[in-house]
Amino acid sequence: MTATEQRVMTLQLKVIFRPARRDDLPKLEWHGEYTHFRRVFARAYEEQMQGKRLMLLADVNNFPIGQVFVQLANTEDIFSFANRRAYLYSLRVMDAFRGQGIGTALLQEAERILSEHGYTSMSIAAAKDNPSARRLYERLGFEVTTEDSGHWNYVDHEGRTRHVVEPCWILEKQLRGNPPPPAQRKRGR
Ligand SMILES: CC(C)(COP(=O)(O)OP(=O)(O)OC[C@H]1O[C@@H](n2cnc3c(N)ncnc32)[C@H](O)[C@@H]1OP(=O)(O)O)[C@@H](O)C(=O)NCCC(=O)NCCS
Repeated sequence: MTATEQRVMTLQLKVIFRPARRDDLPKLEWHGEYTHFRRVFARAYEEQMQGKRLMLLADVNNFPIGQVFVQLANTEDIFSFANRRAYLYSLRVMDAFRGQGIGTALLQEAERILSEHGYTSMSIAAAKDNPSARRLYERLGFEVTTEDSGHWNYVDHEGRTRHVVEPCWILEKQLRGNPPPPAQRKRGR
């Protein structure tokens, strides 16, 4: 081997798509990149425990290399089967793992879970300065329904309120989910 030749290994990775566990919370900070969302993650996890949110992860070797969070209902009664709409947000995949279908698989897995639970639609926001995210969503069947000025607040890990402005498109996809049978609905409550 000459000095200019490089050794190459091709890896086959097992990616597991699963809901977050409590011990994932520090790992979701991605070694400092998302430390400012510590409280946001903790709150989302509490709401997952209450059945209001889903934190779906792409796990490689017990580390979350990708994620999409799902707000399960925006109606008062989350068990109302009349208007079962879900909102997907915080989709991200670690740089080194992008362009290999993991973002697509996360969205497809969220869709499968929502359809199975009788959800009738799911929506997601694409920042206007992120055309590749919009392309990804449209390829998966989402359609732009409206736009939003994208103002939102969160409290960071040091207790400071941070204001974010991210003008975005809102895209929606209709699902053909069927409500689960009555017995299962009762158990869900
Ligand atoms: C948006 C994001 C989640 C996409 O994740 P990803 O894992 O790269 O997504 P995919 O691999 O499924 O699709 C991305 C591209 O890879 C291509 N691709 C999909 N499967 C592939 C495969 N098996 N092999 C090669 N390329 C593939 C897709 O065609 C797509 O191409 P496009 O950019 O021309 O549309 C990721 O880029 C990200 O985390 N970005 C930063 C955060 C962000 O912008 N989130 C969205 C908020 S609006």
